[in-house]
Amino acid sequence: MNSCAACHSKLPQGSFVGAKSHGWKGSVHEMRGVTCDKCHGGNPNAANKADAHKGVLGSSNPNSKVYYRNIPSTCGKCHGAEEFKFKQSVHYRRLEAIGNGPDCVTCHGSMKTILLTPDDMAAVCARCHNSTGALSALAYIPRYAKAVVLSLREGSALVSADEKLYPSGEGFRGGSRLE
Ligand code: HEC
Ligand code: HEC
Ligand code: HEC
Ligand code: HEC
Ligand code: HEC
Repeated sequence: MNSCAACHSKLPQGSFVGAKSHGWKGSVHEMRGVTCDKCHGGNPNAANKADAHKGVLGSSNPNSKVYYRNIPSTCGKCHGAEEFKFKQSVHYRRLEAIGNGPDCVTCHGSMKTILLTPDDMAAVCARCHNSTGALSALAYIPRYAKAVVLSLREGSALVSADEKLYPSGEGFRGGSRLE
């Protein structure tokens, strides 16, 4: 049994820590056994709080695994491809330099990570890329992001439809149908 999840599931919803803890319930990470300690550290075998919390630091502590600058490498332990891509971006350089770029959590959440809908994605971008803020020259970004997420979804819908039609892998991805 994982002591973090066991104890935290009893904390009141109304408290800040309780609300965060309950947010993990039902997430893809819970279903795949990615427990609290995988992102926060600590000892999930210790029953009492002091022992369990050794190494667990609040998100405002620069040494915390969930301090905003450390989030990409914490998530990247399992999502290496996404971390690699993210680290090439202007956003990552901004995050490193002055802390005003988005990180994994800005677009996916932390406790209950999600893949945003196209409209939600546009709203995330518009928090910084809007016509009134300092980035007004990039105010077109939310519309652009919405279109990109839509095409990604259409692309993967097409791929899974293809896999249903041609289960043996002979669909357009296999190439043989197009020859
Ligand atoms: C026996 C109960 C108990 C166990 C076991 C426990 N916690 Fe906690 N945790 C709490 C309580 C209560 C708080 C609220 C703050 C406090 O009292 O320290 C808390 C706070 C936290 C915080 C917020 C820290 C901050 O400074 O903002 C994190 C993150 C956290 N726990 C993660 C974990 C992880 C990861 C584990 C397992 C390795 C774990 N907890 C095990 C009871 C527990
Ligand atoms: C997939 C990684 C991941 C998992 C799994 C995870 N967390 Fe978190 N957690 C984060 C990140 C990143 C933050 C900081 C960003 C935020 O607050 O949304 C955070 C923030 C928190 C906070 C607020 C701490 C603070 O100091 O602001 C608490 C409390 C917390 N988590 C508890 C838990 C508990 C309890 C579990 C398990 C039931 C858990 N987390 C599982 C990534 C995770
Ligand atoms: C210990 C490994 C581990 C860590 C650390 C981890 N993840 Fe995951 N994550 C997984 C697994 C396993 C899945 C299930 C899907 C898969 O196999 O890729 C997943 C799925 C996801 C998904 C897809 C959700 C969906 O609905 O398809 C997102 C987004 C995600 N993680 C974001 C994050 C973020 C953000 C962090 C850091 C705060 C993080 N992960 C940390 C293992 C991890
Ligand atoms: C600027 C927004 C943004 C940031 C920052 C971001 N992502 Fe994503 N991520 C996306 C979009 C868009 C997709 C495409 C999936 C969709 O929404 O349909 C995606 C997809 C994913 C997936 C699913 C991949 C799959 O094949 O299903 C995972 C896992 C993931 N991201 C993890 C991360 C991690 C870890 C980080 C940080 C290192 C990160 N992302 C940073 C927007 C972002
Ligand atoms: C937390 C604030 C923040 C959020 C949220 C944000 N960005 Fe950015 N973005 C920035 C900053 C800061 C820059 C750097 C602008 C500059 O060069 O001065 C930037 C630059 C960019 C650039 C220009 C890159 C280049 O080559 O110059 C693109 C494209 C971009 N963002 C896309 C997005 C998309 C898509 C989203 C939503 C998924 C998004 N941004 C969300 C802060 C943000």
